[in-house]
Amino acid sequence: MRHHVELPEILASKITKLEASLRSICEYDGGNVVLATSFSAEDMVLTDALVRWDLPIGLISLETKRLHPETQTMIARTQEHYGIKVDVYEPEPNAVDEYVTTYGLNGFYDSLEARRACCDFRKSQPLRRALIGRSAWITGQRREQSLTRRQLAEREIDATHNMIKYNPLVEWLWTDVLDYVELYRLPINPLYARGYVSIGCEPCTRALRPGEHPRAGRWWWESATTKECGLHQNLSPVDTE
Ligand code: ADX
Ligand code: SF4
Repeated sequence: MRHHVELPEILASKITKLEASLRSICEYDGGNVVLATSFSAEDMVLTDALVRWDLPIGLISLETKRLHPETQTMIARTQEHYGIKVDVYEPEPNAVDEYVTTYGLNGFYDSLEARRACCDFRKSQPLRRALIGRSAWITGQRREQSLTRRQLAEREIDATHNMIKYNPLVEWLWTDVLDYVELYRLPINPLYARGYVSIGCEPCTRALRPGEHPRAGRWWWESATTKECGLHQNLSPVDTE
């Protein structure tokens, strides 16, 4: 691997390990693996890596129809910057109508059940469709991100989709992600410059106040142990005790 910029030693070793992990995913799972991207900084690192090492891994994204305009623009920006195609999956129009009738458009603020139902038809169901016929999928999850991700493995059995799920950035810290972004000048969501750290749908994401946990801006009205949307069935240590 050739670097055109000088790398801090720790980051260099993480990048070397990432390359080895991604190459072995391709060998093990053939040419039918996809990266699920929400255009987070983590997902942009993985996207950059796939292009840099010319790996046969496609990109899928779940456009929930409640994303910030800034996130929506990342679809075209990513495609143009890297000259690649992102396959975008949306919720079924019927499911939108049904949800609005049952809970109201923003019913997710009222109960955990209503929030999970919204994430289910806007994210989990489209993900199910996106993964049909694939052999494995890759995410940008990191252990540091959340209480529910502390025990995350790099390679998991995803029983919901009956395939392997890879989290090659599990050990990366937020500072590693930022260093990579800066070194290779990646395009990133403009919301990061406005205090956002973990970015999901617009009505369920807010910027962080100084000193807050990185996940505090997601579903801020819920307890830290429930903050997963169904894409990731990570048990929190609290739930498993
Ligand atoms: S979430 O479960 O709370 O929404 P988070 O935003 O931390 O997840 O993102 C973790 C990983 O899940 C991302 O790196 C990405 O791989 C995947 N992911 C999350 N949201 C989406 C999305 N809308 N489209 C595709 N992948 C997504
Ligand atoms: Fe719905 Fe909020 Fe989940 Fe997006 S994050 S799918 S708006 S509940």
